Amino acid sequence: MDLMRRLDESLRAMRERAEIWPKTGIVLGSGLSPLAERIERPQFLPYGEIPHMKRSTAPGHEGRFVLGEIAGVPLICMQGRLHYYEGHSMEEIAYPIRLMRQMGIQALILTNAAGGINEGFRPGDIMLLRDHINWMGNNPLIGPNEADLGERFFDMGRAYPEAFRAIARESAKGLGIPMKEGVYLATSGPNFETPAEIRMMRALGADAVGMSTVPEVLAAAHMGLPVLALSLISNLAAGMKDEVLSGEDVIRAGLSRAAAMSALVADVIARMG
Ligand code: HPA
Repeated sequence: MDLMRRLDESLRAMRERAEIWPKTGIVLGSGLSPLAERIERPQFLPYGEIPHMKRSTAPGHEGRFVLGEIAGVPLICMQGRLHYYEGHSMEEIAYPIRLMRQMGIQALILTNAAGGINEGFRPGDIMLLRDHINWMGNNPLIGPNEADLGERFFDMGRAYPEAFRAIARESAKGLGIPMKEGVYLATSGPNFETPAEIRMMRALGADAVGMSTVPEVLAAAHMGLPVLALSLISNLAAGMKDEVLSGEDVIRAGLSRAAAMSALVADVIARMG
């Protein structure tokens, strides 16, 4: 079945269930699941209830949509994202972003956990994405172009609009949360990087590295959907400290900073209106 037909079927299932119609979409990263607790009058829709949606298998990812409100803004939140390393195709990862766009979202807020490459970063820092480097070796837009969604060739220079970043800076300042800004590089994972890869990524201009976000940003940019993205720096990247990196530590770091991240995202949503 072609993409637009599948999206129509998923949209119909959403229409039958959703008690609100969202204006903003949010994707929660590893360990950042508690952010969903900020959502007022939440309605939970497991991915399995929506035709054509894949389920999330990654630890620390619940695998459901949460519909509700923050500061009076109707929103839809993905509590649990789909990753390339889980074996999902790029198109499957892009699918919920396209579905949320079909529901009418006007802004997409993405969060993730990432390793800090910039030597000025510390674990627990929050980084606002200014730009990204796609090091995944794949792209959700490969294949026939769906003209109803966007153009074959599309600009990436405004994928992370300055207007959104200015709002995030104001929010961080108002809340007294120090915020870094930088370039996120995405790998396929699932391994953490080698120290040599981290030196290469730093030389390429990356400030942080992770295993998500870029496919979702590409799908959003294709549809002209503006993105605000935040990384929680859960650890310093490989070789920067004498420590063994683990997925459990990434989730623990996410949870320990989930309150700050949640406050920031909630305030951004209120300011975006
Ligand atoms: N590398 C890649 N992805 C990550 C890291 C890292 O060091 N930390 C959290 N996600």
